[in-house]
Amino acid sequence: MIIAIDGPAASGKGTVARALAAHFRLPHLDTGLLYRAVGAEVLARGLDFSDVPALAGLAAALDVQNLDGEALRTGPVGEAASRVAEIAEVRQALIDLQRDFARQPGGAVLDGRDIGTVIAPEAEVKIFVTASPEARAARRYAELSARGEPVTPQSVLEDILKRDQRDSSRAAAPLLRAVDAELIDNTELDKQASIARALEIVARRTGRG
Ligand code: DC
Repeated sequence: MIIAIDGPAASGKGTVARALAAHFRLPHLDTGLLYRAVGAEVLARGLDFSDVPALAGLAAALDVQNLDGEALRTGPVGEAASRVAEIAEVRQALIDLQRDFARQPGGAVLDGRDIGTVIAPEAEVKIFVTASPEARAARRYAELSARGEPVTPQSVLEDILKRDQRDSSRAAAPLLRAVDAELIDNTELDKQASIARALEIVARRTGRG
């Protein structure tokens, strides 16, 4: 069983993905971390975002066993990730490892922007998780400020709107809801209610509870 979860920044798709993976005992891949790892390397090495061969090389050489989620979930790295994710050659270099992860025996849960559309269009379960930009910004603000990042609610909302725009308007595999993806809009839902919706969707689509 492949479960594909897509949605915009700070929509809670990671929370839903982790809960489904734990419930069904499936391996989980947060594909945003791949783009974040490439973005972090670009920043660390002071590379230019227009240096396509160098960026594609970083993506091809990525060591996926050693991704440090904590270090990669910062505002600047998210912004860098969104920029490298626009580059078709970078996306191409990351496709095989995502497809191999999705197709391992027994199944998998993947979350990102293009899982149901490009990485695993054959997935039995596709869920598009979203919420209003204001709700997403409020959550991301709480998360980043708790970690001591120098952010304001306004700066976080601006970043979210900019990322939505970039992720949705890029030519290569833009963020979009697959026609056969079920929508969870959690603007008014808490974590537990979002997870309960997702479990209902899986049960309806696959008969698995
Ligand atoms: O989900 P996230 O915020 O960790 O993702 C960081 C960036 O990576 C996001 O702005 C767009 C990009 N991304 C992507 O283009 N495709 C994916 N499957 C996952 C993330």
